[in-house]
Amino acid sequence: MQARAPLMIEHRLIERMIYVIDRKLKLVELTKEIDSLFVDLAVDFIRTYADRTHHGKEEDILFRTLGNKNLSNIDRQVMNELIEEHALGRKITKALADANLQYRNDNDSALAAVTAQLHTLIEFYPKHIEKEDKIFFPASRAYMTDEEDQAMLAEFMDFDRKMIHEKYNAVVRSLEQE
Ligand SMILES: [Fe+2]
Ligand SMILES: [Fe+2]
Repeated sequence: MQARAPLMIEHRLIERMIYVIDRKLKLVELTKEIDSLFVDLAVDFIRTYADRTHHGKEEDILFRTLGNKNLSNIDRQVMNELIEEHALGRKITKALADANLQYRNDNDSALAAVTAQLHTLIEFYPKHIEKEDKIFFPASRAYMTDEEDQAMLAEFMDFDRKMIHEKYNAVVRSLEQE
């Protein structure tokens, strides 16, 4: 298996979540309300899975490894764009979580902000994923030997192994502080 395989498998789950959010948004247009617990789940999925687990492997392992290579100008530019898009994703998710808090506190006008951030997310992510799957991952593979690619795959597995522990450590820590 090539190192990019688990990243692409993760993209497929992120796409399925985007589809779920899209379906929910269509319903919200009719009902004019949203389940704030659904938004919590979406925020948790994006933060824990799409950002920490998935972007974490891209940034801390793939991009870091490529940072030491002599990337062409265009490949370096695309990598920088991807990093900026991850940062944008974090900003949107923060705005979504804030709007959801307001909505939960009976501020009905916050519904527009919640749905606007969800719309931004589902428009932005598929383009980001396509850029990685079709352009950046194939281009970046050319800078690695087979051994380097396999070493990266092993690092990905090690990274993933820690995620569930990190997640539930954070859950307990936040409950302890309540
Ligand atoms: Fe990414
Ligand atoms: Fe990705």
